[in-house]
Amino acid sequence: MQYITEENITEIALTRWGSGHDPRTAELLTALVHHLHAFAREVQLTEAEWGAAIRWLVRTGKISDERREEFVLASDVLGLSMLVVQMNNKFDPVATPATVLGPFHLGRSPHAEYGADMSDGVPGTPLYIHGVVRDVDGKPVGGAVLDVWQADSEGLYESQLKDVDEARLRAKYTSREDGSYSVRTIVPFGYGIPNEGPVRDLVNLTAMSPFRPAHVHFLIEAPGYERLITHLFREGTPHLESDVVYGVKEELVVNFVENEPGPTPNGGESAEQFFTVEYDFVLQSRA
Ligand code: BEZ
Ligand code: FE
Repeated sequence: MQYITEENITEIALTRWGSGHDPRTAELLTALVHHLHAFAREVQLTEAEWGAAIRWLVRTGKISDERREEFVLASDVLGLSMLVVQMNNKFDPVATPATVLGPFHLGRSPHAEYGADMSDGVPGTPLYIHGVVRDVDGKPVGGAVLDVWQADSEGLYESQLKDVDEARLRAKYTSREDGSYSVRTIVPFGYGIPNEGPVRDLVNLTAMSPFRPAHVHFLIEAPGYERLITHLFREGTPHLESDVVYGVKEELVVNFVENEPGPTPNGGESAEQFFTVEYDFVLQSRA
């Protein structure tokens, strides 16, 4: 019989969790125990601190539902999401880089025609994003589905608005046979992660910025290609260097070109000033 001591508890826990029925489960859980114990020993974790952490986890669970993924947000602000994204999406250097999905993606967006307006009455300055979806050899990718979503000019996503039932500032576009796509939306603004909640409370314990730079999200899928989850960020916008979720990559920072009223890239006409972004998404072939 081996009794428990401060010295032997880690070894004993590692042996128990190493009995995972599947080798990968055993590997993951023993590494988790190893690092958790090492963390507690390194910082000499007090019972009060341990209790505060547990209460924070409970709050994070309680505030989460199908419209609010507070644990995803926690992973995002800790830099874990972007680390995992980068380790698992090692694309060709010319392919568009992947970034975090974030907690505000809703999988059930309506399909939109080429150039259709996904802002549909939400106030803002018109923005047209257009270009080509292609592969790393330059071949156009037709039939790619571009799932696009963004926050409004108050920095709020549909899932944060209780009274909204219909799709708001999100749609799925399909690239044409020549790879071309065209999105009509509104100019995005930077915003802070939700004000109320355990993740924001944690961030507020530090001097770090809680803001994200102005961006539009894209999730692009096409048969035979790796799924691409990414963003486009507005060049020159505040918070590019301090994005609270570490999502900014040089290749994703784009020029928003200001245009006087007149013809628009989707073949229409704008009576007001509008912005355009031209961007080609480059997909990685599936191995
Ligand atoms: C977002 O841009 O929607 C987002 C991503 C990660 C954390 C918070 C927000
Ligand atoms: Fe966002």
